[in-house]
Amino acid sequence: MKHIVILISGEGSNMAAIVRAAEQQRWAERFGASVAAVIANKPEAGGLRFARDRGIAAEAVSHKAFATREAFDAALAAAVDAHSPALVVLAGFMRILTPVFVRRYAGRLLNIHPSLLPAFPGLDTHRRAIEAGCRVAGATVHQVTVELDHGPILDQAIVPVLPGDTAEGLAARVLTQEHLLYSRAIERWLHEGAGDTDSS
Ligand code: GAR
Repeated sequence: MKHIVILISGEGSNMAAIVRAAEQQRWAERFGASVAAVIANKPEAGGLRFARDRGIAAEAVSHKAFATREAFDAALAAAVDAHSPALVVLAGFMRILTPVFVRRYAGRLLNIHPSLLPAFPGLDTHRRAIEAGCRVAGATVHQVTVELDHGPILDQAIVPVLPGDTAEGLAARVLTQEHLLYSRAIERWLHEGAGDTDSS
């Protein structure tokens, strides 16, 4: 079985959408793949309960327990490796990862970012898109490389910016599309037998 490990920081709505897609699209039968674990860097992350309720291993590795980014990433990698992952999925994981962590999972580490990369890497993407006068916004699934929000793009979803849009309103509409986009991108990754590509 190809194990998918999902890393979250908060609500985990993308994670939940991926778990549901895995069930509904029968990833176990079609690709021999399953969501093996959900790991959060915050013990209070809402998504942990959703995972536990579904019988998925769920745990927190609190970044606050570690003095350095390197020490946290080493503990996180140990928690991830305990599930022998074929694919590691960042789904609203709001910590910058060290190059050592990123290289460890090169070619099998995906992220979703709430903008049409390469536009608006970093935080506060929706406000910045509105202030820049963009007519379209969206989300991007990409491979994670050492440079933040810059890895090879797997897929994107486009969402119109409406007159009078607020960052919150736009974010909500983009998030709905993220749920479809991420599941679709992972399914394609599994279908194409990816993991052989090394993006480091
Ligand atoms: C999503 O919009 C995701 O794209 C974004 O955080 C949200 C998490 O929502 N990620 C980033 O900004 C990463 N830089 P979720 O916890 O409900 O999936």
